[in-house]
Amino acid sequence: MRRSYTIRLAPLGFWLTLTLATMKDQIDTLLSEQRRFPPPRAFAARAAATTALYDAGRDWKRFWEEQARALDWMSPWNRVLDWKPPHARWFVDGKLNAASNCLDRHIAGPRRNKAAIIWEGEPGDRRVLTYWDLAREVRRCANALKALGIRRGDRVAIYLPMIPEAVIAMLACARIGAVHSVVFGGFSAESLRDRINDAQAVAVITADGGYRRGQVLPLKRFADEALAHCPSVKHCIVVRRVGEEAFAAMEEGRDHWWHRLLQPVSTESEPEAMDSEDMLFILYTSGTTGKPKGIVHTTGGFLTHVAATTRYVFDLREEDVFWCTADIGWVTGHSYVVYGPLANGATVVMYEGAPDWPERDRFWSIVETYGVTVMYTAPTAIRAFMKWGPEHPSRHDLSTLRLLGTVGEPINPEAWIWYHEHIGGGRCPIVDTWWQTETGGIMITPLPGVTTTTPGSATVPFPGISAELVDANGKRLEKGGGFLTITQPWPGMLRTIYGDDERYQQTYWSRFPGRYFAGDGAKLDEAGYWWILGRVDDVLNVAGHRIGTMEVESALVDHPAVAEAAVVGRSHDLKGQALAAFVTLKDGKQASPGLKDDLKDHVVKKIGAIARPDDILFSADLPKTRSGKIMRRLLKDIAEGRTLGDTTTLADPAVVNRLKEMYEEKES
Ligand code: PRX
Repeated sequence: MRRSYTIRLAPLGFWLTLTLATMKDQIDTLLSEQRRFPPPRAFAARAAATTALYDAGRDWKRFWEEQARALDWMSPWNRVLDWKPPHARWFVDGKLNAASNCLDRHIAGPRRNKAAIIWEGEPGDRRVLTYWDLAREVRRCANALKALGIRRGDRVAIYLPMIPEAVIAMLACARIGAVHSVVFGGFSAESLRDRINDAQAVAVITADGGYRRGQVLPLKRFADEALAHCPSVKHCIVVRRVGEEAFAAMEEGRDHWWHRLLQPVSTESEPEAMDSEDMLFILYTSGTTGKPKGIVHTTGGFLTHVAATTRYVFDLREEDVFWCTADIGWVTGHSYVVYGPLANGATVVMYEGAPDWPERDRFWSIVETYGVTVMYTAPTAIRAFMKWGPEHPSRHDLSTLRLLGTVGEPINPEAWIWYHEHIGGGRCPIVDTWWQTETGGIMITPLPGVTTTTPGSATVPFPGISAELVDANGKRLEKGGGFLTITQPWPGMLRTIYGDDERYQQTYWSRFPGRYFAGDGAKLDEAGYWWILGRVDDVLNVAGHRIGTMEVESALVDHPAVAEAAVVGRSHDLKGQALAAFVTLKDGKQASPGLKDDLKDHVVKKIGAIARPDDILFSADLPKTRSGKIMRRLLKDIAEGRTLGDTTTLADPAVVNRLKEMYEEKES
């Protein structure tokens, strides 16, 4: 049976024309951006990257092979790449261990006592772990996992706040060859349950709770709710983070306190020799169906990609203090809080809480206190900082900063300039990096010290990456608006979707045969610079978080009062996109403000707070084609306040006009 996602994405030409038409304003604005920022001379003089790197990248297989050599391999590869589209095997037959690449090789040398993690908790507590400390804790955790019977290849879910134990747990899994599946702490019990069951995880590592804006998030209680429906899980390891404030009962036999479990365990442990293509982790991300996809990343290629991009894109030097503000529950945290920087022996800053707690200068106080030199954050955060005003950063000495980065969504030129001036003091290059959970590492980005930047453009592909723009028919375009595709395999690419290789092939490789289709619209300018326009499918980017409209729709229709729901994204000044839901109720159910709140809470319970709808509009009908398909693009026009597009295919054109009037009159 054909699945719904293939049907919804089928009429590509039609869809492209519409998508690009709605993006036209965006394209025109971007085209008018004239400002250019050549690399500062002093920066270029010491930069890790040079133009030679672009030359080297032309021979892409050899380039990646060179990058792989920077890692420690237990035995070498026989071939760089086996490519049977769309399945790639990189560094074939090579053996390595990702955790020992991040730890053992550093403690054998002068980095032994260097800070690996400088951590600050939201309440203000601090911990510094040297490479030696981190290696010791990872070994103990690895041994504790083994003692519980967890073996190579087993899946382990990690549901933790941003505390050092999250990194320790990930690396301990990698050390013994277990596959980690980190679930963002902001996801609900039900989301956790679904991810655990899809991965058939044998263990969960969580905490009693975590701090967020002064509140305690009771993670263990959520985990308990999830675990009541997860028969594969035999063990739950619980970090004590908040104590009495989030008391949760421990289940005899299943639950173990982290500190008790690790306390008597030895630090002797040999890392498993993993095949380059052995799974390192699964990370769930939203797609165009209600069911999140388990993105599979393997060991050698992923580590090669993230280590190389960290080195060149963030220009890492021995004395740098690198702060990627992402949570490890997202891919950015995997690649640029954990594996990339630690493989390079860098000092990483980790912060547990919110940027505006207790004050709106929290980030800048962290930069000043720890002397952060390279900072990597999301445009949505920058837009919030802009709104809060420059007085917050200006109260702090930010002179240690030398390089800034952004990721996760298109950055509007205004935010770029603000970041450059108020955070970077006008002296720091900015790297706007485009990539995805699926790509593993950065794909399109300036090389600091080499590439001239322009606000709003991610500039050009990283060396060894080949991006091409195509039209609806897959024909290559030299410039203009179209779809972003990748034409050659790259080491950090996802290998499959866990348990659903057909969906992998269908989602990424079938729309444009022979090409990886990222799901993003883009513009390529005269100079060959890329301007990412955003998703062209049913995936939304809300405050830098990826959310599938179908997931939210499924959560809404799960509510007993809801008959039907359609969710679309609308532009939002701070969050990039906001969620607008159109809901029809079952017979006999009354629309009310109370029900609206109830529905929003229901979505939070089903998915997590990141998916809470911003607007809910009750309606007797939804606009449908004669064949009964909901026309979401018209709903998007309504939510965006645009003139309605073509309505001729509607079964009842009056429905949409009524909705438009109602939306314009709605109170919020
Ligand atoms: O639409 C693109 C947007 O984020 C999507 C990927 O989301 P996710 O898998 O959650 O990974 C985010 C962090 C790597 C992309 O399809 N995106 C990411 N970076 C950029 C971006 N859009 C524009 N500019 C970027 N720099």
